[in-house]
Amino acid sequence: MEYKTAIGKKFTLIIARGPEEVGARAADIVMELVGKGRPGVLCFPTGSTPIPLYRRLAGLYRKGLVSFRNCKAFTLDEYRGLPSSNKNSFRFYMERHLFSKTDFPPRAIHSFNGMAEDIEMECRKYEEAINKAGGISLLFLGIGANGHIAYNEPGSNQCSRTRMVVLSQETRRAIQKNFPGKYPPQYAFTLGIATILSAKTIVLMATGRDKARAIFRALKGKPTSDVPASFLQSFKGRLIVILDRDASSMLNVDLNRCQTISRK
Ligand code: PGA
Repeated sequence: MEYKTAIGKKFTLIIARGPEEVGARAADIVMELVGKGRPGVLCFPTGSTPIPLYRRLAGLYRKGLVSFRNCKAFTLDEYRGLPSSNKNSFRFYMERHLFSKTDFPPRAIHSFNGMAEDIEMECRKYEEAINKAGGISLLFLGIGANGHIAYNEPGSNQCSRTRMVVLSQETRRAIQKNFPGKYPPQYAFTLGIATILSAKTIVLMATGRDKARAIFRALKGKPTSDVPASFLQSFKGRLIVILDRDASSMLNVDLNRCQTISRK
């Protein structure tokens, strides 16, 4: 159904029964764009939220129902200091969950080099690659409990472009589980907020009760750099928000009016 944010931005809200259905609905949007071989420039997040989406896309590819052979892919962010061979790097994650299981041409896959020596150049190259690809047609986002999108942490400016950032303490605590016995990374490369907002379509996904407050503040709070996701309210393109019931629990939505899942 169509919903409005605090400042009147219209968006499509889909409430799914659980994380698998969030992934299935997100995959429907990919199918709509790409089908069996249409071109598209897609940008993907990491984390636990999008895993059902990637599982679904891999399954659809196996069945011959989707092909990415004419698509380009970008990852949203990357830890500074991890090579792509490190299993905690986002490039490794994307290979494992999506790229190795589908037919994205290897040359059309873009990710940050976490080990780049010239940081500014790495960021500039990334923005240039996005522009050269014609801009991002479909960009997926998760959300941090602190309201971050990609690694635009609280304090991030609406005009920010691709850059290296310092990770917040909250984020570092959240990722600590992936770095047992070690300090988690302190820095990361990320697409900026303005870069994200230059996509044509954005799909924000969230699951679980610990995201309910961030979702509420993002969509129903005043846009502020304290909650970077709230800048999605000034997005000029098509915004689709896919939540499970737990993540939507603070929005006070009427589930009967919402586009809930019925498709099998
Ligand atoms: P998660 O991370 O999907 O693992 O919850 C989302 C984020 O931090 O952006």
